[in-house]
Amino acid sequence: MAFERVGVVGLGTMGAGIAEVFARAGLRVIGVEADAEALARGRGLLERSTARAVDKGRLPAERRAEILGRVTLTTSRDDLREADLVVEAIPEILDYKISLFRDLDGVCKPETVLATNTSSLPVTALAAATGRPGRVVGMHFFNPAPVMRLVEVVRTVMSDADAVSDISALATRLGKTAVTVGDRAGFVVNRLLLPYLNHAALLMEQGIAGRDDIDVAMTRGAGLPMGPFALLDLIGLDTAYEVMEVLFDETRDRRHAPAPLLRELVTAGRLGRKSGRGFYGAEQARAQGPGRSGVITFDVAGPGADELAGRLGAAGFARSGEDPDVVLRFSDRPVVEHAVRLSDPSRMVGVHLVGDEVAELARTALTSDTAAGAAVDLMKVAGRAPVPCKDRAGFVVDALMLPYLNDAVRMHDAGYASAADIDAAMRLGCGYPAGPFEMLESIGLARARDGLRALYAEYRDPAFAPAPLLDQLVTAGATEFPRR
Ligand SMILES: NC(=O)c1ccc[n+]([C@@H]2O[C@H](COP(=O)([O-])OP(=O)(O)OC[C@H]3O[C@@H](n4cnc5c(N)ncnc54)[C@H](O)[C@@H]3O)[C@@H](O)[C@H]2O)c1
Repeated sequence: MAFERVGVVGLGTMGAGIAEVFARAGLRVIGVEADAEALARGRGLLERSTARAVDKGRLPAERRAEILGRVTLTTSRDDLREADLVVEAIPEILDYKISLFRDLDGVCKPETVLATNTSSLPVTALAAATGRPGRVVGMHFFNPAPVMRLVEVVRTVMSDADAVSDISALATRLGKTAVTVGDRAGFVVNRLLLPYLNHAALLMEQGIAGRDDIDVAMTRGAGLPMGPFALLDLIGLDTAYEVMEVLFDETRDRRHAPAPLLRELVTAGRLGRKSGRGFYGAEQARAQGPGRSGVITFDVAGPGADELAGRLGAAGFARSGEDPDVVLRFSDRPVVEHAVRLSDPSRMVGVHLVGDEVAELARTALTSDTAAGAAVDLMKVAGRAPVPCKDRAGFVVDALMLPYLNDAVRMHDAGYASAADIDAAMRLGCGYPAGPFEMLESIGLARARDGLRALYAEYRDPAFAPAPLLDQLVTAGATEFPRR
């Protein structure tokens, strides 16, 4: 089916962007708002967004006029009578959406496809509210819609195959990458991203590491474009909380229960950027200053010890087996078992290097403040951002990253989406440098499996147990994830 006239209902943050995307691709757009005031706001969003594109030299001024000329704005749903497709982007409240879909079903031609941009509500419930459930799908754009290249196309058990493939083809015509998924809470991106963000809030709540340290670990260590707390502030803590609630309702997985810290901040009105404060306030993330130059003696053990000793020695710090201020122990596992073998266990700090820039510094229950401080200073001298954390399985990066990768494997193994689609969704939907399967391959399937086993042994959370498929691939000696 060729879509030429498209309706967009609700011209807020998302709807205005979606209307722009359609108009840019040459389609005629009928934008519907609730009342005249909201309509004027929607028009303002559309005009400002396209004006910005002209200012930045991304859009010729005459093209802007053409784009705006293709959009008709109205407060009457009856104007959608001739639309080939209607995309709904009104607030995330199921009752509102059901009532809108009933109305649209009465107004639109029988062959019109009705799509929802919902992030978390069941598309099936909207389809069931109409007399054309086969022609109801999800068309989930990302914010800002004109920029983000991903569209999750959601098919329900009732969707006609051609409606789904027509909408995917339309997304491609819009210059987007379409990923077709089933109707499960959170689809691909939110289902994988939000539990990871929630987990970061739990790690902070458990005192395993601090806000800035976790953000540094995930950006400079794991190479993500934003740390979890900066990202939560951007998404909005209230939105994140609501998505977690929806995920929990569907899965009853304890990890999907919103972190109590999220609830507390939301209740306190700290919603993130939209309210001026969230995890971060007005201040910027802490700058990593140069290290202290005082006299510190150290010893170091484990794989990588000699290289670090050489670097620290060159900077004038003395290695001493006798009476060091701190004993650095390289390990990718908790180090307390090494600490108890020292004559003074309070001096031991675990070191786990992540990427080229970060060193996680694990403090056991016995580590003294002096030793912990000395380890931080030495790491700065060695040219690495120190990430102090508790001596727990996975420290920070593996504890956050491996369960996310495991969730992706389980999602694929459940037949929900292909590995290639999940990779594309996370790259394009989150701006990640690589998708989860690509990340698994670069970490090493065996190392990921073993790290998950260690996390499971520590926390006994079934979700941390390596996905059977991952385990089998490692047993089979695979180093790549099969793309079926
Ligand atoms: N904001 C995001 O990052 C994002 C990303 C992807 C999907 N979504 C989803 O998109 C939808 C809209 O979110 P948003 O952030 O754009 O919300 P928003 O509050 O910015 O916009 C909603 C708009 O709908 C209008 N509206 C309300 N009732 C209406 C009605 N009966 N008829 C016509 N217009 C009506 C409102 O006036 C408002 O302009 C939600 O389902 C949300 O889950 C949001």
